[in-house]
Amino acid sequence: MTKKIAPSILAADIMNLEHDVKMAEKAGADLFHIDIMDGHFVPNMSFSPSVIEGMKRVTDKPLDVHMMIDNPDQYIKPVVDAGADTVLIHTESTNHIYRSIELVKSLGAKAGVVVNPGTPLENVKELFPIIDQILVMTVNPGFGGQSFLPGMLRKIQRLDQLRQTSAADDFEIEVDGGINAGTIKQCSDAGADIFVAGSYLFNGESEAEFAEKVDKLRQS
Ligand code: DX5
Ligand code: ZN
Repeated sequence: MTKKIAPSILAADIMNLEHDVKMAEKAGADLFHIDIMDGHFVPNMSFSPSVIEGMKRVTDKPLDVHMMIDNPDQYIKPVVDAGADTVLIHTESTNHIYRSIELVKSLGAKAGVVVNPGTPLENVKELFPIIDQILVMTVNPGFGGQSFLPGMLRKIQRLDQLRQTSAADDFEIEVDGGINAGTIKQCSDAGADIFVAGSYLFNGESEAEFAEKVDKLRQS
């Protein structure tokens, strides 16, 4: 599968979001990752559907929406209407993950399921036939700038093996948290396809530095 780089706008300059989105596009970003947090499912708050709507106005790249909220079903239609191309849902955030995924698909968006560091892969195997992506969290969700959990590499490998031996192998493996030029290579070797990067990309000083970092990620 084609490897893709997804800048996480959680780490962008919110007062200059359009500028940062254009900079990331110019540097070769394949899609954008948007974190929605409610202060309940995770101990932090972030964007809402209005930000997705704003992003849609300034970019044609796919919008990958990571729902870190309780009762996600209630907000699936609002985020799809706002322009989400993919909606990613944590298994623990809903009583009926299969139903939530079906709801996303019924609205015409791509659907993904998210596994926290402590979530066993066993919990998502039954979803393989109906999902487009599986997001493996490589940090505990809620904050940018945390260190990559090396124990997750084994999990990515196991997921890739499960995918290779399954008839329902048509989904991408995404990683989110602590991705930089070093960890991206390890995740890629383990079988990941989509790489979310926040602080590594946006904490630089200039557009040239941003572009260099995207190149580095791609080369790794
Ligand atoms: C964390 C978010 C991530 C975050 C990643 O809960 O899901 O998308 O932006 O940030 P970095 O790349 O800084 O770990
Ligand atoms: Zn995320």
